[in-house]
Amino acid sequence: MSKTGSRILGAGSALPKRVLTNAELAAQIDTSDEWIVERTGIRQRHIAGEGETTSTLATEAALAALDDAGLKPEDIGLIIVATATPDNTFPATATKVQHALGCNGGVAFDVAAVCSGFLYAMTTADSLLTTGTAKRALVIGAETFSRILDWEDRTTCVLFGDGAGAIVLEAPDASNPAGSASAENSAANGGPGVIASRLHADGANHDLLYVDGGPSTTQTVGHLRMKGREVFRHAVVNLANVLGEVIEDAGISADDIDWVVPHQANARILDATARKLGISADKVIVTVDKHANTSAASVPLAFDVARRDGRIKPGDLVMFEAMGGGFTWGASLVRM
Ligand code: UT7
Repeated sequence: MSKTGSRILGAGSALPKRVLTNAELAAQIDTSDEWIVERTGIRQRHIAGEGETTSTLATEAALAALDDAGLKPEDIGLIIVATATPDNTFPATATKVQHALGCNGGVAFDVAAVCSGFLYAMTTADSLLTTGTAKRALVIGAETFSRILDWEDRTTCVLFGDGAGAIVLEAPDASNPAGSASAENSAANGGPGVIASRLHADGANHDLLYVDGGPSTTQTVGHLRMKGREVFRHAVVNLANVLGEVIEDAGISADDIDWVVPHQANARILDATARKLGISADKVIVTVDKHANTSAASVPLAFDVARRDGRIKPGDLVMFEAMGGGFTWGASLVRM
């Protein structure tokens, strides 16, 4: 529902040093730069090297977001890491990030919603901040999907990359000791903050996108498996529906949206979703060409890129959206 939600104070991101191009992949498996670019829009991806893990990338992104927000780790009372590739099965990667930042004592946990993880984490953080669990949160999407790919399966290994993105969220009443954000400055009335969010899941489609291992089944990490064509079909329908719901909740029209920051799975999904909504392709932030699909990291990575290059500005109305394994999907509308 439309409300006065938490504000985004800053953003940051981190990418592994190693860049793997389509041409390099084509030298290893039966694929080509032409096929990958035409079917996905991907030209390269970053791959974590020795010493680079989900938690190190998450920590680097978190530090950049804190710096961007002009805050210190001790200002943070809640850390949520969205990831499907944690450093360990447990404890949560968020607790490793908390310790690396040196702000132990607050709340820290992981969210597993795969490519929609950042939307799930951001919406959860917004709820916890609104109900007073903490004043400021780090919401991080971080992944090292390269470590769960079957590098001999050309239908999946060309699609994914590693990276992390983070935002700092502040509770709506954090700077207002009286306890409530003023009506004049609420997000719905043009002030900054989360305006409306919707999340969905449908476990019936579990087998279209999954990892074929895990502690309780095979006692192995497993590899990513995907029926890409079917996932594509569901993605376009589910994303158009959830975007329509958030637009309606917020009482706006698609024309009012300044920027769409989508999950970066495939350039064709981004085009098809924008077309269905009647949103101009110029308003869609695209990073899939450089980052490929970084699962939970892709939305905050794309957001950070577009803020730093000056496209997303204070006052802009920004729609975040994602869909992934589970299936899970969601969208969130935020005034910057
Ligand atoms: O992040 C979570 C959500 N994930 C997604 O949203 C991914 C959704 N799906 C997709 O992005 C697309 O379905 C893919 C990019 C995965 C595949 O594109 P497609 O146009 O649906 O191709 P396809 O699976 O229908 O395969 C077409 C052909 C097949 O050959 P035949 O059977 O027509 O002879 C594949 O074997 O392309 C072949 N192919 C490849 N060829 C060269 C599949 N992968 C490759 C490859 N290089 N890497």
